[in-house]
Amino acid sequence: MFARRTGWNLAPNRYSRAVEEARRDARPLLDLTASNPTTIGLQYESERILRALQHPNALQYDPASKGILPARQAVAGYYAERGVDVSPESVVLTVSTSEAYSYCFRLLCDPGDEVLVPSPSYPLFDFLADLQDVKLVPYELVYDHGWQIEFESLRRRITPRSRAIMVVHPNNPTGHFTRQWELDRLNALCREHELALVADEVFLDYALDPSEVPLSFVANQQALTFTLSGLSKISALPQIKAAWIIASGPAALLADALARLEVIADTYLSPNAPVQWAVAELLATRHAIQRQLGERVSRNLAELDAQLKHSSMVSRLALDAGWYAVLRTPSSRSDEEIAIAILQQERVLVHPGHFFDFPDAGYLVVSLITLEDEFREGMRRVLRALDDAGNC
Ligand SMILES: Cc1ncc(COP(=O)(O)O)c(C=O)c1O
Repeated sequence: MFARRTGWNLAPNRYSRAVEEARRDARPLLDLTASNPTTIGLQYESERILRALQHPNALQYDPASKGILPARQAVAGYYAERGVDVSPESVVLTVSTSEAYSYCFRLLCDPGDEVLVPSPSYPLFDFLADLQDVKLVPYELVYDHGWQIEFESLRRRITPRSRAIMVVHPNNPTGHFTRQWELDRLNALCREHELALVADEVFLDYALDPSEVPLSFVANQQALTFTLSGLSKISALPQIKAAWIIASGPAALLADALARLEVIADTYLSPNAPVQWAVAELLATRHAIQRQLGERVSRNLAELDAQLKHSSMVSRLALDAGWYAVLRTPSSRSDEEIAIAILQQERVLVHPGHFFDFPDAGYLVVSLITLEDEFREGMRRVLRALDDAGNC
């Protein structure tokens, strides 16, 4: 009855069974995996957001394949504020970054073609690729005082079926930016093997050091590049469902890519009118919300570092940006066993590293956007569990 591509094994794993069980227990859980910004006590400009969704033009059906021009101009304006010139003609609106990925996969890949993806990284990619009949091929990121692409691993994994290299900038959950030297080498590989770049920049605005202005892939002209972002992280509004693709690259390739992308977008006409008419105003709410998130992340990180000074077993990896911290823990047990033990003994939820495809045991991921009191107490308990286990 069903397509093979949906034959996923959806049986809960040991960790998700333990989480279900813990949630059935009435005692409170401390959640250090919080990733939904609408549930962590931020002060949104609620009236402004709701008013933005009532634009009178939204009563008219006026289909525009790449999205309405004022919304695409607002997206271009967002990049202009970062000092990058983007033409509204190279912007394609989608409902989510996930949908933007689907458009890129549809544009670039025939069934069975390959896309190179960083590992460790964000886990949703597997399902997205399965749904488009694309095969994901991981390439390694390595850590040595900071993360970087392991170019030998990347080069070895390129095959005649490779179509694109994906980059998450900054990466989730490692929180590192791609550097200019890495972009130069990515461009060289793309030119040599006729590959496109797909860059996910949803966390671009969340540099820990506010004076750091990271590069943006939207300015990349050296290879055909699709840069993905959206309001779910930029304005902390995942429920609004507004995102985009910006295409850039060598002129002839770019024109062809945009023409094809426009047909894909026209086939779905996905984003709804009220949201499109609200994009400019919703983007403008980002400053206040990013300030709050930036303060939250800095305070939680300072708290984490203060607590780690007293831990003999746990350290944290360096990060440049984003909403998560990676903890290095003893690797005598699997990270799943450690996360389950923390959950059962201490009633604290943390992500086991394997959720993000860390190559070996000994990594946990915690969310830095968690409410501060919950983070402080949660980390205290996590370190107690890990230090006690390590000292036994
Ligand atoms: C790196 C990365 N890309 C994309 C997304 C999904 O974004 P959207 O809500 O726009 O689909 C997430 C969500 O957490 C993410 O972490």
